[in-house]
Amino acid sequence: YPDVMDKLVSLCKRRGFIFQSSEIYGGTGSVWDYGPLGVELKKNIKDFWWNAMVRSRDDIEGLDAAILMHPRTWEASGHVAGFTDPLVDCKQCKARFRADKMDPKKLEANVCPNCGNKGTLTEPRLFNLMFKTHMGALEESSSIVYLRPETAQGIFVNFLNVQQSMRQKVPFGIAQIGKAFRNEITPGNFIFRTREFEQMEMQFFVEPGTDMEWFEQWKAKRMQWHFDLGLSPDRLKFHQHDAGELAHYARAAFDVTFDFGGTLGDQEIEGIHNRGDFDLSQHQQYSGKKLEYFDQPNNKRYVPYVIETSVGADRVTLATLVNAYREETVEGESEGRVVLGLKHSIAPIKAAIFPLTKKDGQPEMANRIVDDLRSAFAVDYDETGSIGKRYRRQDEVGTPFCVTVDGQSTGDQTVTVRDRDTLAQDRVDVSQLKGYLAAKLVG
Ligand code: GAP
Repeated sequence: YPDVMDKLVSLCKRRGFIFQSSEIYGGTGSVWDYGPLGVELKKNIKDFWWNAMVRSRDDIEGLDAAILMHPRTWEASGHVAGFTDPLVDCKQCKARFRADKMDPKKLEANVCPNCGNKGTLTEPRLFNLMFKTHMGALEESSSIVYLRPETAQGIFVNFLNVQQSMRQKVPFGIAQIGKAFRNEITPGNFIFRTREFEQMEMQFFVEPGTDMEWFEQWKAKRMQWHFDLGLSPDRLKFHQHDAGELAHYARAAFDVTFDFGGTLGDQEIEGIHNRGDFDLSQHQQYSGKKLEYFDQPNNKRYVPYVIETSVGADRVTLATLVNAYREETVEGESEGRVVLGLKHSIAPIKAAIFPLTKKDGQPEMANRIVDDLRSAFAVDYDETGSIGKRYRRQDEVGTPFCVTVDGQSTGDQTVTVRDRDTLAQDRVDVSQLKGYLAAKLVG
């Protein structure tokens, strides 16, 4: 697949999807802001996940836990001791690398991959990826709190609260969407790897011994979700973690990878992990509180195993944009067009309404249509520029339908509706328009 990243970064800024954070100050390293269309797109993707994982199931409950947690959480979870990357600096050119991502031959020969100098690399040092801050007025070691590096721990510490308040029986899951923070050493590739990001995580609690069966089920379900989101099946794969890659909590892990094209290629967008009883047992030990499930019919108590599915909202948004981006030539036109072929349900704007001219009552009629459609869909009104330019603008942001009020419309109360993908135009009675669009806006 071609590398479309630079074109996307520029489209996202130009069309109000994604801006660099604090741009007027020169930007903040690898932090991004979602503009008016970006926030709609990401929200639609999060809703698509929430509907699939929470609303459509009886056996998964939602949660929104706080970002700041008791500092002991991160000792129990293993993040204070183990959430580290080995870091190597070049004393000559000051470049910084992750030792585990370097060519082992260069590392052993002590050759800097940046300047090529020999003997200028430091020994690898372990660098913790958690952001630290202080709670309360005193900046002392006892007041240290962390910004959560994963949302999962908020679920583990609430396992019994949710299970008991909702009278759930194992197997069941808890899902949440929220911000996570990692002081990444090598962030980059736009919103692919950032220091502040959003995760959509689900922890499914199962009886020990049934875990690998559930693991396989969740692998299949999560891959299907990516297909349903509209990502091309031939860009999606599974990657199995070998023993060296497994996170400190995982007994087994598969990534869902997406082919971003260019040199980035296949990259993880979701992790599916069998975390065993690692987290609940650790929290039990560190908090001194029992985190067991009582299986009443069988009269037995156990610490459940956890199958986790964890997908980055920003990363899957980027995959969606890359997947949807296409450049086309248009028959009979000298200029081609750029289209975001987004699935209708996640497109930020569902229909754009244009008056062909700014006179003869056309703007008024177009605005009445906007007011009528607004209750049902996200709509946009645009009267600036030629009709061709307005179509191109909507194609570039993935709007499935453009509705044009023309000279005929004010007379016979019909409008034209243009389809983003086929470019076909239908003449539709205004009184039928809402129903027409609702029927066309599928999936
Ligand atoms: N609770 C498990 C966990 O956090 P992970 O594989 O470290 O597992 C899960 O992260 C997902 O979170 C990744 O597949 C990715 O989509 C997203 N993610 C992780 N680090 C990220 C970062 N620095 N920027 C953007 N997304 C990130």
